[in-house]
Amino acid sequence: MRAAWVTDIHLDFLSHAECERFFDSIVGDSPDVIFVTGDISIAPSLLSHLEAMNQALDRPIYFVLGNHDFYRGSITEVRTAVRARLHGRPLLTYLSEAGIVPLTPSTALVGHDGWGDSRYGNYATSPVELNDHRYIKELTGLTQSQLQERLMRLGDEAAMYLRQTLPQACDHYSHVILLTHVPPFRESCWYQGQVSTDEWLPFFACQAVGEVLHETMRTRPNCQLTVYCGHTHHSGTAQVLPNLTVFTGAAEYGMPQVNAVIEVQ
Ligand SMILES: [Fe+2]
Ligand SMILES: [Fe+2]
Repeated sequence: MRAAWVTDIHLDFLSHAECERFFDSIVGDSPDVIFVTGDISIAPSLLSHLEAMNQALDRPIYFVLGNHDFYRGSITEVRTAVRARLHGRPLLTYLSEAGIVPLTPSTALVGHDGWGDSRYGNYATSPVELNDHRYIKELTGLTQSQLQERLMRLGDEAAMYLRQTLPQACDHYSHVILLTHVPPFRESCWYQGQVSTDEWLPFFACQAVGEVLHETMRTRPNCQLTVYCGHTHHSGTAQVLPNLTVFTGAAEYGMPQVNAVIEVQ
């Protein structure tokens, strides 16, 4: 099976014709399935962009959402709207709610949005102010400590979900692919070929998810976990354990690309 992986495609930066050209380029790689690791669009246009992908790509699309997908909206409302939209669209799968998806007899797929959960780096002294905290309903109008509590809760939610799905997937498959938006480890949080600084790490990596992945894979050496993520827009590979590899994908606003075509065994 061939999977085309795309991340941070930010379709709201493209015209209709540019979207169609991008979809054609994906189809040109002849993938059997598509992996999308978040930042597809922004809240007001997310559903129409998902619909456009569904129609143009016409093959299974497995996706998670990124922080930008909630811009000008609310996390809860966007997730609810996406869930409703998937009814009757069997090719679209929102992994944060799909459990374990068998891809081949030996490989399963799991995933969750994840979130920059403020735990890596130094949140207390970071001067970074993301647009997330201006454009996402749940993250606006908060004090620094209230915001941190909310970021941690979003990370914990992703971790709890993966704690329920990943071990089970590993017990039944020799290879598990995990899609998430936010890099789960410090060493997978790439920026210009280096690990992000302590100022950016709180918002660009998810420690709660990293801990679940590390804990699960450390005790299951016979299973291989491959993680695909984005969010930093800079690429790199991190070998976290002998059986745990993280690929972080590059992206440029207005110029989406296929990050890789993956042969799934
Ligand atoms: Fe992005
Ligand atoms: Fe992002």
